Amino acid sequence: MRKYKWLTAICVMVAVIIIVSCKTRFNTTKTTYKASKSSEAFERGKVLVYSICGGCHYNSSANKFIGTPIHEVPGFVGKVYAANLTNSKSHGIPPHYSDAELKYLLKTGIARDGRFISYMLRPNMADEDLNDIIVYLRSDERAVAAADTTIGITHFTLIGKMVMNMMARPLPYKPGIKRPPETDSIATGRYLIDNIGCFHCHSHSFTSLNYLNPEQSKGYMAGGLKFKDLQGNKIYASNLTPDKQTGIGNFTKLQFRKAVKEGQAPDGKLHPPMPEFRKLKDQEVDAIYAYLQSIPPKYNKVQEVHGQ
Ligand code: HEC
Ligand code: HEC
Repeated sequence: MRKYKWLTAICVMVAVIIIVSCKTRFNTTKTTYKASKSSEAFERGKVLVYSICGGCHYNSSANKFIGTPIHEVPGFVGKVYAANLTNSKSHGIPPHYSDAELKYLLKTGIARDGRFISYMLRPNMADEDLNDIIVYLRSDERAVAAADTTIGITHFTLIGKMVMNMMARPLPYKPGIKRPPETDSIATGRYLIDNIGCFHCHSHSFTSLNYLNPEQSKGYMAGGLKFKDLQGNKIYASNLTPDKQTGIGNFTKLQFRKAVKEGQAPDGKLHPPMPEFRKLKDQEVDAIYAYLQSIPPKYNKVQEVHGQ
C-alpha cells in the first residue's frame, strides 16, 4: 500500500508541474489607437527608445535594435533574448503589432498573443511618451530599419515555464497619464526614474519591485543588487539615495551628469550593466538629480566591484 501512496504522490506532482507550466494566456486589447506622427514625436521617441529599451534591445555590435541575450536570467530558467525591434517583416516584432497592441504590452505586460512578458512593464508611462516611442519604432531610421536577423530564440526549461507562469502578474491598463510639466523638476525626475527604469537595478531585487508604486519597492534606490559581467566579476548597483556616507549625497550636479551620461563616476569608470544615457538632455539628468536629493537618505554600504 505504501508503494501506491508514493506512486500517487509522484503522479500528482507531475500533473501539477505539467498544468502549472502550460502556457497561461491573458486577455488582449480590443482598443483601437493610432500613434500621431510629428518630427517632435520622432525626436523624443528616439531618446526614449535608446534610454529605455536600449539596455536590452540595442545591439552595440550591429548598432541596431536587433536584441541582445539577457544574461541576468539564471540558466535553470532557460535562455532569454530580447526581441528584434526593427521593422523586419520576417524577424522583427513591430510590423506584427498594431499601435494599440504595443501600447498595451508596455502598460500591462500582455503580448499580442496573450503571453505575459515581465521585462518592460511601464504602467505609469504617459500617453505622449508611448506615442513617441511607437512613432520612432515605426520610422525608417537606420537603427530600427529592417534587419532580417536574429540573435537567438528564447526558450524556457520546464522549471522556467513554471516560474514564469507563477510570477505572471499583468498590470491594470491605465491610459490617460500625462508627463509632469518640465518646470517641476522633482516630479520630472521621479517620472524618469520610474519610466527609464533606474529603480529596477538600483533597488533591493528584481523580484520585489513595485511597478505601480516604485517607492514601495524593497530598498528603493538604496542599491546592492548584484550583477555579473561576462568575465564573471561581481558588480553591485550603487546606492543612489542622498546618504552622504554610502549614497550620492556628496555628488555635485556635474559629477552626477558625467556618471549618468558618460559612465564616469568621481572614483572611476562605471561598469556594465550601468548604461551610458548619452541621449538624455542635461535638463532631464538634472531633474533626476534634484529628485534623488529629495528622497530619504538610506545607509546601505554597497560592496566594491570584485573578481570571481
Ligand atoms: C530589461 C530588458 C528589457 C527592456 C528594458 C525592454 N525590453 Fe522588450 N523585451 C525584452 C525581452 C527579454 C523580450 C523577449 C521576451 C521573450 O522572448 O519571452 C522582449 C520582447 C519585446 C517585444 C516582443 C513581444 C512579443 O510579442 O514577442 C516588444 C515589442 C518589446 N520587447 C518592446 C520593447 C520596448 C518598446 C521597450 C522600451 C520601451 C522594451 N521592449 C524594453 C526585454 C526588455
Ligand atoms: C541595468 C541596470 C542599471 C540601470 C537600468 C541603471 N543603473 Fe545606474 N548603476 C548600475 C550599476 C551596476 C552601477 C554600479 C557600477 C559600478 O560600480 O561600476 C550603477 C552606478 C550608477 C551611478 C554611480 C554612483 C556612484 O556612487 O558611483 C549612478 C549615478 C547611476 N548608476 C545612476 C543611474 C540612473 C540615474 C539611472 C537611470 C537613468 C540608472 N543608473 C540606471 C546599474 C544600472
